[in-house]
Amino acid sequence: MKRKHQDPFASTEHMVDYDRNSYMQDQMVRSRAERLRAAVERIGPVVPEFTAMDYGCGPGHSALNCIAPVIEAYRHIDPQGSIVIRHSDLAGNDWNSLLALVFGPDGYQRNASAIRTELVPGSFYTQLAASGSVALGTCFAASHWLSRALSPYSPGTVWFADLEGHARAECAALARADWTRFLRCRAAELRPGGMIIVSTLGGVADAGEMNGVRTSARKLYRAVFDVANQMVDSGLLEASALDHFVFPLWFPTAEEARAPIDEQPDLKKAFEILEASVTPAPVHPDDVYEDVLGDPATYARLYAGYIRGFGESTLRLHLFGPSAKKAVDVDALTDEFFRRLTRYYQAGPGRHASETMVMTLVLRRR
Ligand SMILES: C[S@@+](CC[C@H](N)C(=O)[O-])C[C@H]1O[C@@H](n2cnc3c(N)ncnc32)[C@H](O)[C@@H]1O
Repeated sequence: MKRKHQDPFASTEHMVDYDRNSYMQDQMVRSRAERLRAAVERIGPVVPEFTAMDYGCGPGHSALNCIAPVIEAYRHIDPQGSIVIRHSDLAGNDWNSLLALVFGPDGYQRNASAIRTELVPGSFYTQLAASGSVALGTCFAASHWLSRALSPYSPGTVWFADLEGHARAECAALARADWTRFLRCRAAELRPGGMIIVSTLGGVADAGEMNGVRTSARKLYRAVFDVANQMVDSGLLEASALDHFVFPLWFPTAEEARAPIDEQPDLKKAFEILEASVTPAPVHPDDVYEDVLGDPATYARLYAGYIRGFGESTLRLHLFGPSAKKAVDVDALTDEFFRRLTRYYQAGPGRHASETMVMTLVLRRR
């Protein structure tokens, strides 16, 4: 199929079976609970209502796990006060699944008192809330997605951290511009004294890695390239499509995360940085599925599910689509890719382990 005009926000829409395949993301969200409680206490009571907004909320349980400590902490300081919970994501998010959880047996609306739920479809690279209306913002495992797909000439990799030359410069410039825009939008939306907590996949300096940075999940993305490249060798994918495919991602270092605030006068004026760090994930930092290493079939199935969960929509749109002659071929290519990826992981448990380092940025609006 011909490369069509690409919807800049389409890459991550319709994440596949996200709730089942989001173990890493859910662990990251759960490990933020103390920071969330501390932020609510620091912000204090807000009248007429305390608004918490979760950017890139997704459709799954992690959206509830992010909000639970916020509600609990706010009820301690203001037992009767009105709370607004705003869940925000791209328009194509599975809002019905999210609402089923919010109003389900484990949801915070099951016995809600003075809590209003709002859904806010849209990109977090735009202003999504009225100026000064948000007391606490959260954004977990989401801001590493860039605002649009890129297709630089990038043979040998699908992964931003292994890009070189012009391709690397193009991706870095978009990441910087996106992140600056994200921060400016949140600066507008947060009320004075409000806070935002961002956690996402990150990277740390490492002279042994290309570009001097070791980023989360490097072996996983190299495995994705190897399998896609095998499909080129088998005549199933176009070499030119793979040569121009990169996941539209950037996993920042702590320095990159704070750079716009350190360097841009308006952001420096808007935000106090309370934390900017990159640390190993609290659970299984060296291999997301290390507890099933002894069972290669399960290990491989879990990795394929994990990659499918966050990556299938991007692969379909920007790699399999351009290689397919008919729309149905995209389904066949997708199935074949994940069959091969499963075999690849099963053949070498541990060899393509996904390491996780979490970047955390905690900001207070002056
Ligand atoms: C890996 S999921 C994380 C969901 C949830 N926050 C969690 O921690 O499990 C990433 C989410 O970010 C959303 N996302 C990606 N780019 C976005 C953008 N520009 N604006 C809003 N949401 C975006 C995706 O739609 C997806 O739901």
